[in-house]
Amino acid sequence: MQEQRIKDPSLAPEGRLKIEWASKHMPVLAQIKNRFAKEKPLKDLTLGACLHVTKETAFLAETFLAAGANVALCGSNPLSTQDDVAAALAEEGAKTFAWRVQTTQEYYWCVEKVLDYKPLITLDDGADLVGTLHSKRSELLAVVKGGTEETTTGVLRLRAMEKNGALKYPIIAVNDAYTKHLFDNRYGTGQSTLDGILRATNVLLAGKNFVVCGYGWCGRGIALRAQGMGANVIVTEVNPTRALEAAMNGLRVMPIADAAVVGDVFVTATGDTDVIRKEHMQRMKDGALLANSGHFNVEVNPKYLEELATSKRNIRPNLDEYTLKNGRRLYLLAEGRLVNLAAAEGHPSEVMDMSFANQALCTEHLAKTDRMEPKVYTVPKVIDEKVAKLKLDAMQIRIDELTEEQKRYLATWETGTT
Ligand SMILES: NC(=O)c1ccc[n+]([C@@H]2O[C@H](COP(=O)([O-])OP(=O)(O)OC[C@H]3O[C@@H](n4cnc5c(N)ncnc54)[C@H](O)[C@@H]3O)[C@@H](O)[C@H]2O)c1
Repeated sequence: MQEQRIKDPSLAPEGRLKIEWASKHMPVLAQIKNRFAKEKPLKDLTLGACLHVTKETAFLAETFLAAGANVALCGSNPLSTQDDVAAALAEEGAKTFAWRVQTTQEYYWCVEKVLDYKPLITLDDGADLVGTLHSKRSELLAVVKGGTEETTTGVLRLRAMEKNGALKYPIIAVNDAYTKHLFDNRYGTGQSTLDGILRATNVLLAGKNFVVCGYGWCGRGIALRAQGMGANVIVTEVNPTRALEAAMNGLRVMPIADAAVVGDVFVTATGDTDVIRKEHMQRMKDGALLANSGHFNVEVNPKYLEELATSKRNIRPNLDEYTLKNGRRLYLLAEGRLVNLAAAEGHPSEVMDMSFANQALCTEHLAKTDRMEPKVYTVPKVIDEKVAKLKLDAMQIRIDELTEEQKRYLATWETGTT
């Protein structure tokens, strides 16, 4: 069986330094790794992972290797793999099938290579691994015991599978843990999306009309950080409560058709399709920047720009200029793929520390627990709370504990107005 396919094994030393840097900022996962190395809770089990191949994912893979697992890994996006990190991982013994810039065909070839290892537990980011396993490799369903899912879009797809009776094994929705989405989706995506936009363009954000499509966990973070850089943030939404929240946070809220006319920078983070369409692009200002931080490249669909444009030029890495028939130029970042991973390095290690601590503990939970019903499960509360506690400890933040009197008070109904 082919053991790996990466871009260039000679990049491994650089990758190793990056992983070391990430590990220094991931104290919770480091603690779990030390325990796993002693206890070997995943000894001889095979894990199949489809995750963005970043330095933080590499440290998670090292944690699993330390636990005694066999790890097969592919990237969860054709543009997000860090080639030096992939090289280091392959050298360390993870069966790695990942390189930056893949065709859709190559991407799914890698997914199938991971499945060739017949994983007992799958770790997915976007549900492509689970989707391929169910549709093209259903013979493996007899082997799989469970899986985890990292992101909102993946959880949505899995819940749709569950509803249709299509889901054949249990998945823990890591995304839904508080210690994941409150921090990773909000502060991680907030910071790294701006990082991606700046690395791709180096434009000044102060004073720009910065349109955020979707005011969910990611959108809130992006809006917050763009505000911090002095941008005038405009939010578009379809959910009335979230639109109201944006308005009360002092942001302008309007339909995308109106925002299209005034925006300088557009970022989608909805998990939805066709958020910015042809009719919006045609009304945009000359020079408008379009970026996406949602999971798939369907929010700002490049096909519309291709159809509208008379010419296209690559200006610099991760920045394409489309000249429209009306003479205006629009700039698409990172081909409409996750801008924070394609044009920057993804989330900072400190937030991935919590996301991947959840991944590690949920994988251990799946390995130790009897086979569960084929449903989408939330992360066990004890794991979520443990990750929060360990992170606080690592940050040397102490908090109060309830007194016995307070515990009694909070559990009774008799005491009211005094
Ligand atoms: N870039 C990253 O690293 C990263 C990290 C985490 C999540 N994600 C992805 O980002 C996307 C959003 O995740 P989330 O956790 O914020 O989800 P969420 O469900 O919290 O928020 C999505 C928001 O988008 C809104 N929305 C849906 N369709 C819309 C439309 N047509 N126009 C405007 N608003 C619309 C929804 O009402 C909702 O408020 C998902 O695809 C998720 O997988 C990316």
